[in-house]
Amino acid sequence: MLTPYEIVDATEADLPILERIENTCFLAPWNMEQILYEIKHNPVSNFWVIKVNGMVIGFSDYWNTFDSGTIAQIAILPEYQRHHFGSVLMEEILKDCIAEKVVCLTLEVRKGNLKAIAFYEKFGFKQILVKPHYYSNGEDAIYMIKNVEASK
Ligand SMILES: CC(C)(COP(=O)(O)OP(=O)(O)OC[C@H]1O[C@@H](n2cnc3c(N)ncnc32)[C@H](O)[C@@H]1OP(=O)(O)O)[C@@H](O)C(=O)NCCC(=O)NCCS
Repeated sequence: MLTPYEIVDATEADLPILERIENTCFLAPWNMEQILYEIKHNPVSNFWVIKVNGMVIGFSDYWNTFDSGTIAQIAILPEYQRHHFGSVLMEEILKDCIAEKVVCLTLEVRKGNLKAIAFYEKFGFKQILVKPHYYSNGEDAIYMIKNVEASK
């Protein structure tokens, strides 16, 4: 059974733990200015944290741009991965997409990030194309799309 958790909007108070998650989970982590912009100023951002026993163990940031959406980032601290916390965040995103009439959800993922690709494929995302040398270290991105309507 999944450990009890809650998903709430991120706030400025979460910045230190979000910095830790960024630095632990990503090859090119966002800096705190970028995160703060997402939390406070980006009008299309939905930035949520997932808490276990009151402690933030992961987050997601998805942009709702009318009828399409983009998963900008999703991450779970390594010690909490593979316990379906990423899945509950994704389910929350999909629920919000349906409520907001977002029909198509897209994302870019590093070609070598096989666990994230497996994660997205489990939720029905399809690999559509490769964006060559998309990342600053020259790595290709896989562009993935999910038709949200189809999952209703
Ligand atoms: C991608 C990520 C968010 C998944 O979160 P998670 O909580 O570990 O994922 P879940 O436990 O909900 O896994 C759901 C499914 O995804 C797939 N999956 C997740 N981790 C996997 C792994 N290491 N290897 C293979 N498949 C994996 C499996 O199909 C899994 O279902 P199962 O456990 O029933 O087999 C997490 O690995 C992470 O934070 N990675 C670092 C940050 C990152 O790469 N984010 C994506 C950037 S685009």
